[in-house]
Amino acid sequence: MFNPARLKVQAMKREMPKHYWKNLPEAQDINTLIRAASTRTEDMVEAEPTNPRKRAGAAHAKIAPKDLLGRLAPVAQHAEAPPSIDDLNRALQACRVCPLWKDATQAVPGEGASHQPLLALVGEQPGDQEDLAGHPFVGPAGKVLDRALEAAGIDRTEVFVTNAVKHFKHEPRGKRRLHKRPNASEIEACRWWVKHELDLVQPKLVVALGATAVQALSHHKGALGAVRGATIATREGAPLRATIHPSYLLRLPDEDAKEAEFERFVADLKAAKAEAAKL
Ligand code: URA
Repeated sequence: MFNPARLKVQAMKREMPKHYWKNLPEAQDINTLIRAASTRTEDMVEAEPTNPRKRAGAAHAKIAPKDLLGRLAPVAQHAEAPPSIDDLNRALQACRVCPLWKDATQAVPGEGASHQPLLALVGEQPGDQEDLAGHPFVGPAGKVLDRALEAAGIDRTEVFVTNAVKHFKHEPRGKRRLHKRPNASEIEACRWWVKHELDLVQPKLVVALGATAVQALSHHKGALGAVRGATIATREGAPLRATIHPSYLLRLPDEDAKEAEFERFVADLKAAKAEAAKL
């Protein structure tokens, strides 16, 4: 048995010293398993076992004629910006600009405080649970985010929470749906939505959670670490701070490292709140 989420190389070597490995045919796989452990753990965390429901699009069959325009989102994306967040969200459900809608249950819009909150938090894309529920950050990464917000003294209902990409990208693995990172063109295709969400919501400061959000929102091209802790700008020139994505904490195998990184994440959120309060 090899559980990638419980990787303890020293303990493995104590149990079965390395010089015996050559006697075991399976041992040839150990190095590969160790190298792939963190990626596999990430996939396990993101891939909650679910049976995908029918696409929420079925509900659109009853769409009112006045909303039909919103269904033409590929067109609507390039038309004038919707006048309200409700209009934007309605149009979003019909987005066909990139292929991700095909395998998703529904688009997941941002939610929370939608009138000039101190902060807007932008994640990567909905995960499995968010895709089914239609709400951002309600799965395992959302639980970490909730804990961190609480520790930072930030009430989640007082911030706007959204994602850089609005449909859940995944690949089927049996009955499971494994999270896949959105690629550059999918991020670019979705930029219109997140830009207009932020234009309508007008947060004092935007917090990018992880590298995908940084890529979507800013012109920064390098590593996340290079801009973490500084106030930079969105492509439109609004104040932006970057921190880790909460799912990073779920992937850390070592409990001490997890605790230390959680504290750093909380400190980033506190700093973002303090900065926003000054603006
Ligand atoms: N990860 C994200 O980036 N967003 C969510 O909504 C859930 C998980």
